[in-house]
Amino acid sequence: MKVTVVGAGNVGATCADVLAYREIANEVVLVDIKEGFAEGKALDIWQKSPINLYDTRTVGVTNDYSKTADSDVVVITSGLPRKPGMTRDDLISTNAGIVQSVTENIVKHSPNAIIIVVSNPLDVMTYAAHITSKLPRTRVMGMAGILDTARYRAFLAEALNVSPKDIQAVLMGGHGDTMVPLPRYTTVGGIPVTELIEEDKLNAIVDRTKNGGGELVKLMGTSAWYAPGSAAAQMVEAIVRDQRRVFPVCVKLEGEYGIDGVYLGVPVILGKNGIEKIIELQLNDEEKQLLETSRGHVKEVMDALDNINAAKA
Ligand code: LMR
Repeated sequence: MKVTVVGAGNVGATCADVLAYREIANEVVLVDIKEGFAEGKALDIWQKSPINLYDTRTVGVTNDYSKTADSDVVVITSGLPRKPGMTRDDLISTNAGIVQSVTENIVKHSPNAIIIVVSNPLDVMTYAAHITSKLPRTRVMGMAGILDTARYRAFLAEALNVSPKDIQAVLMGGHGDTMVPLPRYTTVGGIPVTELIEEDKLNAIVDRTKNGGGELVKLMGTSAWYAPGSAAAQMVEAIVRDQRRVFPVCVKLEGEYGIDGVYLGVPVILGKNGIEKIIELQLNDEEKQLLETSRGHVKEVMDALDNINAAKA
C-alpha cells in the first residue's frame, strides 16, 4: 500500500512517522512546497527505522506529484496553522486555495485514491477537496472526530483516574466550538459515564473538549500535531487494513440526520472503500438542536468559500 501525506509540517510529519513506524503502509511519500523540507523529514524518519524496527519506505519530494502516483490513500495537511487569537475559520482564504490546488494534483496522479483532509477549517476544507476532486463522497473525508473524541476521552480518563483505553465515546458536528460531544453515548468499560462523574464535572470536560485545539494554540503559539497526526494515521490504517472501524468522520451529508449538502462529523464505518456506511443515531431533542447549530455554522463558512471561489472565477 502506498500513502501520500501532503504537507511536511508538524502534523504531516507526525502522520508520516506513525504510518512508518506502525508499518501501516509499505511506502509513504511526503510532499511539501518548501525545497528539501519533505526530503529531510522523510530521510530522518527512514533513519529511525533500524532503531524502531520497521521497513516502511519513506520518501520526500518537493512539489513533485508524479512521485505520489497511484497512492491508495492521500492525507492533506497543507496550509497554515492558526496562531493565538485566531479561529480556524480565519484560515479559510489562505488554506482553500492551497487545498484546492493540492487536490487537483493528487487526483491527476492518483485518480483512485481515498482522500483524508486535515487542513483547517476542517469541514469546509473537506468540502473544498470534495468539489475539486469530483470523487464520490465516500472517498473524500475529513479528520477531526477522532481527534476531538481523543481529547474528550483523555480528559475523562484523567478526571476518573482510569485508562483512556477503556473510554468509548462519539462526538458529532463541525470541528469547532459548536462540535457536539455526546455524553449519552459515552461509556467507561461499558458503564455509562453519567454513572461515574458528576454532571458539572462532565459539562466542564465537554467545554474543555470544544476548546481543545484553542487551548493548545494558546500554550504553544501554534496548532497541535501529535494527536492530529496520529488521528489521521488511524484513519489511514482503518482503510488500508479494511478494519471497518467505527469513527466520527467529516463527510458530506445527503439527507442523513435530516441534513443535506453540509459537511459534518458523524459516526461512520471506515474500511477499504472509505466510508462504508454512515451510522444514524437516534438523537434526542437537545442533541438535535446542538447539531443544527453546528450545521448552521459550517454552512455559513461553506457559503464564504463559495463567495471566495466565485470572486476568483
Ligand atoms: C486542532 O484541533 O488541534 C486543530 O484543528 C488545530 C487547531 O488550530 O486547533
